[in-house]
Amino acid sequence: MFSTATGAYSDRFALHRDPSPARVATFAEDVRSSLGARPRSLSPKYFYDDLGSALFEAITRLPEYYLTRIERDLLATYGREIVAGFEGPLELVELGSGSAQKTRLLIDAILERQGRLTYHPIDISADAVTESALALAASYERLNVIAYASDYFPLLRDKRLTPNDRVLALFLGSNIGNFTPVVARQLLRLLSDALSPGDGLVLGYDLKKDPTILELAYDDPTGVTAAFNKNLLARMNRELNADFDLRAFRFAARWSEEHGAVESFLVSERTQRVRIPAAGLDIVFASDETIHTESSYKFTREEIAALARDSGLHEKTTYSDSGGRYALGIFTVV
Ligand code: AVJ
Repeated sequence: MFSTATGAYSDRFALHRDPSPARVATFAEDVRSSLGARPRSLSPKYFYDDLGSALFEAITRLPEYYLTRIERDLLATYGREIVAGFEGPLELVELGSGSAQKTRLLIDAILERQGRLTYHPIDISADAVTESALALAASYERLNVIAYASDYFPLLRDKRLTPNDRVLALFLGSNIGNFTPVVARQLLRLLSDALSPGDGLVLGYDLKKDPTILELAYDDPTGVTAAFNKNLLARMNRELNADFDLRAFRFAARWSEEHGAVESFLVSERTQRVRIPAAGLDIVFASDETIHTESSYKFTREEIAALARDSGLHEKTTYSDSGGRYALGIFTVV
């Protein structure tokens, strides 16, 4: 891992990038194995290149995508109370920090009670994590930022986080919903192992609800989510020299009662051949053949509490909106 200090805030900002990704599969290798297999799929972590991160930010502003707005309201209402539940001084660790807009609500609450704060954001997008970390350093004179441009798993597994004080970990935005329940449990276990007893976790997750509402949130009439998905094809064209015709695929999202997730797909409009030289693939898509791009799992409060319990986390309390659409679970490491 090497770190970079950046410009004006070099005394309060460091960026750690993944080491030469020897063990971490590269985009080309992942495309080769997941798109070359049947059924075909791509990992949603590849949504977040520079354009994809910007498209996701646009999604969070869609009226149909209620998740971000409700989570922000919950943090604005209960942020102080959440922080008050943990003895300080605190450090913040955030998995999947993205633009870190909502994090400001907790930073405000923490800086009301202590002089300085160290924030450790982790995000797969180096652009997003650098931009948001620098913006935070500019806004808060009493904040230090140690940022990680990384996949969560290798970072937690290799114990590369080095907090000094009590940690309040944030895993917001329903990011946990992108993992199958088995992998979500592993991730929470890795996180609780990387933390110490008494540390806290704020977990934002989307509650199970009427499928019509869910399908609208994931297939918005404006088409931003469709563009967000098609950007995966565009990214393969840009980075892997692929020759996808973006107009020859359509986007579809549907609720699966069986899996408890909204499942997203790119669907081939016709029989077509696509070459992806850098991944060593030459694929013939059948008409209506699908590429699974994402599952967004939804939970009941009981399901999350059980998942957390299995991972060494104790549920202190849970906040949710009056419509019962979205929840913030507050946990302590046992
Ligand atoms: C960032 C994974 C939480 O699943 O709700 C939004 C990504 N995909 N619209 C989600 C997403 C389509 C989002 N997460």
